[in-house]
This record gives sequence, structure tokens and C-alpha cells, in this order.
Amino acid sequence: MPRVPADPVRVVALDALRTVREQDAYANLVLPGLLASRRLEARDAAFATELVYGTLRALGTYDAILGELVDRPLDALDPLVLDVLRLGTHQLLATRIGDHAAVDESVKLVRDKVGHGPTGLVNAVLRKVAARDLAGWCTAISPRFDLDPIGNLSLTHSHPRWIVEGFRDALGGDLDETTALLTADNVRPAVTLVARPGRCDVVELVALGARPGRWAPTAAILDGGAPTALAAVREGRAGVQDEGSQLVALALAAAPIDGSDLRWLDMCAGPGGKAALLAGLAAGRGARLLAVERQPHRARLVSHAVADTADVTVADGLAPPWVPASFDRVLVDVPCSGLGALRRRPEARWRRTLADVEALRPQQVALLRSALDAVRPGGLVAYVTCSPHLRETRSVVDEVLGDRSGAAVERADVRPYLPGVEFLGDGPDVQLWPHRHGTDAMYIALLRRGSA
Ligand SMILES: C[S@@+](CC[C@H](N)C(=O)[O-])C[C@H]1O[C@@H](n2cnc3c(N)ncnc32)[C@H](O)[C@@H]1O
Repeated sequence: MPRVPADPVRVVALDALRTVREQDAYANLVLPGLLASRRLEARDAAFATELVYGTLRALGTYDAILGELVDRPLDALDPLVLDVLRLGTHQLLATRIGDHAAVDESVKLVRDKVGHGPTGLVNAVLRKVAARDLAGWCTAISPRFDLDPIGNLSLTHSHPRWIVEGFRDALGGDLDETTALLTADNVRPAVTLVARPGRCDVVELVALGARPGRWAPTAAILDGGAPTALAAVREGRAGVQDEGSQLVALALAAAPIDGSDLRWLDMCAGPGGKAALLAGLAAGRGARLLAVERQPHRARLVSHAVADTADVTVADGLAPPWVPASFDRVLVDVPCSGLGALRRRPEARWRRTLADVEALRPQQVALLRSALDAVRPGGLVAYVTCSPHLRETRSVVDEVLGDRSGAAVERADVRPYLPGVEFLGDGPDVQLWPHRHGTDAMYIALLRRGSA
């Protein structure tokens, strides 16, 4: 019988998994190039994308299952064989692909990409995986919820334990909400567009096939097709931006201040999504944004995003070239763990550690202090993260305000500046959530510098 080669779609998926693993690469950056170079049709490309994203997201659960079935530690396997097993497990437990096809295709894949040696192992292990469905496996191997709720959620929702703990703490210990968040994190979000003020509006995007966003007046959701198919996106008048990122920029712009309101600063601007939105809002009321970014290549992205609507400078926000107390509004969107955007970065949860969160914290504290020095008395600073972890959010603000005791800085209630947005909690700061708002888990605190 002629030898049937492995399915090209699964070959692409395996190559993507391998590159992500070997090069510490991001799936969302690796895949488009691979899909284009292998010339997959749209349907096949969508299937390969689902295989890669789904496998990476559920890696923790799949490895726990495979660990029960492989007779040696998983890290003793050829890493490519493990990739094939993970990909096969995903097909068996999370897609409608029949068991026979999933096992058979995995055997062909390992034969073509590794050799005949491991075909027997892949065949035997995947047949055993197929003996139960995903829920059955989770019940069989996860710790009991009543004895170890974090361990149970970690395994059944495929998030590392420390992240589940961090989410639980940020949700005030509520395990039902934590479960809802973990579930939302495992669903790939729709593409959200921003209509950049003064350059585009949502009406134009809706006329091109998008639908209005849920909360932000600048947001539109694209249910299908490539964003670059829209002229407004190609021309930079609109962009791809999570609705939560839009809301935090809109809140900073909406909060009232007394006196002058002409000079705005984005202190950590790259790649420029929030800068482009703020620049348009500033221009609409005669103000001008200075967008600052430390890394030159990211500053170039900012220049592209803002076009001529803002000034862009390469500078270190911790060694600022500007005169102290010279801005009316400052955004400091600090480098963070990115735990709020796990929906769109399927591999990120397995890379990050609690040590990374702690390592970023001194920069976050220092950047917030520098932002408070940059704003004039009576002006506003928005401290923003794309992480809900308390060590990156409220606790950073608490530490910085602790040094400025007296009336030097006051926390403003953010909630009035997010009109129409529900589930905003008790304030004064706001944490947005994938499971409540359908946004990334963006955090914002608004700080008003006192007069003396
Ligand atoms: C979370 S990202 C900002 C995202 C951006 N606001 C947006 O919406 O596109 C943080 C950025 O801060 C930059 N950064 C980190 N430390 C900095 C510093 N000391 N001064 C200026 N920029 C800094 C990083 O290079 C990174 O581009």
C-alpha cells in the first residue's frame, strides 16, 4: 500500500508548537507566517490555528492526563513526540474529530516528523486517552474540589496554581467567580477594533460589517474576516485594540480637572494603542499628547499608530527629559505580567512565574512615582496594568501613596468616568474582567496630585 503522508494542516500545527517551545516564541506571531508560507486555505488555516491555540492553552490538563499514561516522566520523552501527544490529546478531548482519525493522524505525524520508533507509543497512549472524555479525565485525576479547590481548578481549567491563587485573591476569594474567569480565559476573544477619534468613527466601522462594542463608544467588534480587509484599519484610522484598553484611556480623558488641560503624557507608550486613542481625544479639545517609549523599535510602532496626531520621543520615564510637574494628564501603563490577556496569548500562562511578577514590581513602583512627579498639582495620573494580580495593581498604588502621606495625592473614583459600564465593584479603582466585561483584565487607578 502506498504510504499516506501526514496531513499538512497537522504538520503546520506541530511545527508551530515546536517553534513556540524551542524559541520561546509567541503563537500569535509564529502562526501567521507559517500559514502563509504553507499556503493553507482559509478553512485549513482556521483549523490549524484552533489546534495550536487549543493545545497550548490546555497544556497543563493534557500533560496531567499524559503523565498518568506514559511510563516515564514526560520530560524524558523526545520533546517532539510530546508535542504530537499533546496535539493528539487535544483532538481527542476537545474537538469533534473522531477517535480513529485523531490517533491515526498522530501516528502518521510522528512517523513523518520523528521516525518509526515512537509510533507504537503514540498509538498506545492516545488509545488510552480516548477511553474517557475530558470531563471524565478531570474527575478521575484532579484533586477533589472540597479538599483542594485551587488544585482542582488548576487542573480542570488548565491554569498554573499560582495564577489561580492570584485571580482568586483579586476576586476577593470568590471561587465561583474565579471559575468563571478561568473559563473565560480559555475562550479566544473576538477581534475588537478602535475607531480613533477625529480619524474614524464606529458608524464607519459598522458600515463595513463590524458591530458596535459593548461599552466603549470607540469600540467595534469584527465577527469574521481579517481586520486589514477594512480600509480604515489599513489607513491607521482604526486599529485592533481590546475594549478594556480603550476604556482605561477614555476614563483618563473623561475625568475633569481644574485649570489648564493642554499637555498630556503617555509615559510607556509602545506599541501605541492607547497613545493613538488618547492623542485623538487630546486633539479634539486642543491638547497635545507626548508619547514616550524607552525602546526605539517600539517607539517606531507608536509613531506609526499616532501618525501626526502626537509627538513621539524615545526616553526613559525613570530619567525623564521633561520639566517636573509640567503635564495635565499622565498615563502610565506599566510593563506587567500580562495575566489579564491570557485569552489571546495561549502560551503565556506556562511561561510566567510569580517571580516575574515580583521582579517587575520595583519598575512599576518607580514609574508610578515618576508619573506623579510629571503631573502638575491638580492634574491626573492613570496607573494602568494589563494584569489583575494584586501585587501589580492595588498594592503598587498603596505603596506609592504610602510614601506620599499627607494630602499630596488623592485617589479619584474611576467609576463615574466609565459611564454605562456595569460590575465596577466598590471603587475607587476599577478592575475589568474577561468574565464580567468581555474585556482583558485591565486595571486602572486614577490619582489626582494635590496642590502642595
Ligand atoms: C504595557 S506596555 C504599554 C502598552 C501601550 N500603552 C499600548 O497601549 O500600546 C509597556 C511599555 O513600557 C515600555 N517601558 C518600560 N519601561 C519604560 C521606561 N522606564 N520608560 C519608558 N518606557 C518604558 C516598554 O518598552 C513597553 O513598550
